[in-house]
Amino acid sequence: MIIKIFKDSEELGTALGHEFVEAVKENPHIILGLATGSSPLLTYASIAKESQERGVSFAGVKSFNLDEYLSCPLEDQTYRAFMEANLFSYIDIKKENTHFPSATGLSGYDEEIKEAGGVDFQLLGIGRNGHIGFNEPGTPADSLTHVVTLTESTRVANARFFRDDLSLVPTQAVTMGIGTIKKSKRIALIANTLDKAEPIAKLLRGEKDLECPVTALIDHPAFEVYLTEEVDAAVQKLLA
Ligand code: F6R
Repeated sequence: MIIKIFKDSEELGTALGHEFVEAVKENPHIILGLATGSSPLLTYASIAKESQERGVSFAGVKSFNLDEYLSCPLEDQTYRAFMEANLFSYIDIKKENTHFPSATGLSGYDEEIKEAGGVDFQLLGIGRNGHIGFNEPGTPADSLTHVVTLTESTRVANARFFRDDLSLVPTQAVTMGIGTIKKSKRIALIANTLDKAEPIAKLLRGEKDLECPVTALIDHPAFEVYLTEEVDAAVQKLLA
């Protein structure tokens, strides 16, 4: 595990966006694993800006998003809509090369990823309970793409995207499993807000704990954790 610490979210996003653009430049047919939520927003902005400035094309890139809601009542809050709004509309990735898991194609998603050659570079955020994708505490470390019932805390955390109306927040989602994520060749995880300090502290303690899903990545051979100084300071306090 490599820990990278940045002054603030902006510097973090710029640096990680650069890593992605470099990876695409090196391998124009790279397979990317992508996340939604607040954590990667500045990384996506940086990918959009740098790839435009440097003329790096995403036309040969394939992407597989981590998760998607089931029965999302607000069309503009689906994760596909999120990716369109925050990344896809700014780069030349082909729509047919962008993939999202769905309840109808459950077993097919892992197969599709495998057939594409496997995820080369996976971007992750982290939930305040340590979830990755929508793999909530207790999810087996070898799980593949599956349907999940969202926990109350995750729904409350996401209500801000649903007019702060909990009744509009979907109750189920489809997510890559922890086993799916672990197969990625390189993983970059962002923790840029203080509410992520606790699961990051658990991760840095280095003990696998089914109740903190991110700890399943402890022994991944190419796992990078991107922290802001503020988060790092809070983590160090918890570890002291
Ligand atoms: C989203 C996802 C989730 C988020 C996590 C953190 O695709 O996989 O695991 O990364 O819930 O969300 P934010 O970044 O909004 O704090």
